[in-house]
Amino acid sequence: MFYNLSRIGDDMDWGMKNRISKIIKKDGHTVMLAVDHGYFMGPTTGLENLGKTIVPLLPYADTLMPTRGGLRNYIPADIDIPIVLRVSGGTSIIGKELLHEGITVSMEEAIRLNVSGVAFSIMVGADFERDTLLGLTNVVDEAERYGIPVLAVTAVGKEMKKDSKYLALASRMAAELGARIVKTYYCEDFEKVVDTCPVPVVIAGGKKTDEKTALTTAYNAIQAGAAGVDMGRNIFQSSNPVAMIKAVRAIVHKKATPDEAYEVFEKAGKSER
Ligand code: R5P
Repeated sequence: MFYNLSRIGDDMDWGMKNRISKIIKKDGHTVMLAVDHGYFMGPTTGLENLGKTIVPLLPYADTLMPTRGGLRNYIPADIDIPIVLRVSGGTSIIGKELLHEGITVSMEEAIRLNVSGVAFSIMVGADFERDTLLGLTNVVDEAERYGIPVLAVTAVGKEMKKDSKYLALASRMAAELGARIVKTYYCEDFEKVVDTCPVPVVIAGGKKTDEKTALTTAYNAIQAGAAGVDMGRNIFQSSNPVAMIKAVRAIVHKKATPDEAYEVFEKAGKSER
């Protein structure tokens, strides 16, 4: 599926279209860099000093996804990159109900931070699914009033079975409830997830794996019709984060194969030494 943004935008006001066009580029694709992990994981490996790791990556990212504290404390305000702000949270990785999240940032605050979009997690299938789904619709109502797109993050929980049946269900629900972009996991038969979701789909990278595997996952997702990636650990925990984001870009924007992208990774790594 190719995301024709002018067509997708038929029902949208200028502000909404404009913000989405900052997040997803003219070719219908995007490299989003997720650095919001601290909101439930604290000082995640690679983000202990978020600015030190992430600022050098920003020239190669199309969009940054931080928390408000991450943004204010580590990212210079004169930087030219659209922000999709994490606006859900409320539980931690050591608590009993991981990802039983509610709204953590008001729309007024999101506007003050000049964001291009906001991100909210839903937990379809969890005992508390209703809370997260109603939280999403509250955020959608507020965000739509100001022309701000909501990106729904689906299925981050450990216990969820991440197959195409589940991910298609969760992604479609997110879109039906008003998300303008859906973030989910790659799985076998990913076409099914993309084809039954009426809004652009981006994939999370998940736990750090070797670079070749992460690049192959990104490639497979793009082949299946994903609009792009919203990747975190597989970029900022890489042995060479700048080289890795360049390689991911090659897949998302230049149709590189995993082998070609891995070459970009190796070359970029060498040229920095
Ligand atoms: C989790 O809820 C966060 O949104 C993460 O930022 C995310 O899932 C993407 O990061 P990663 O590629 O590290 O999985």
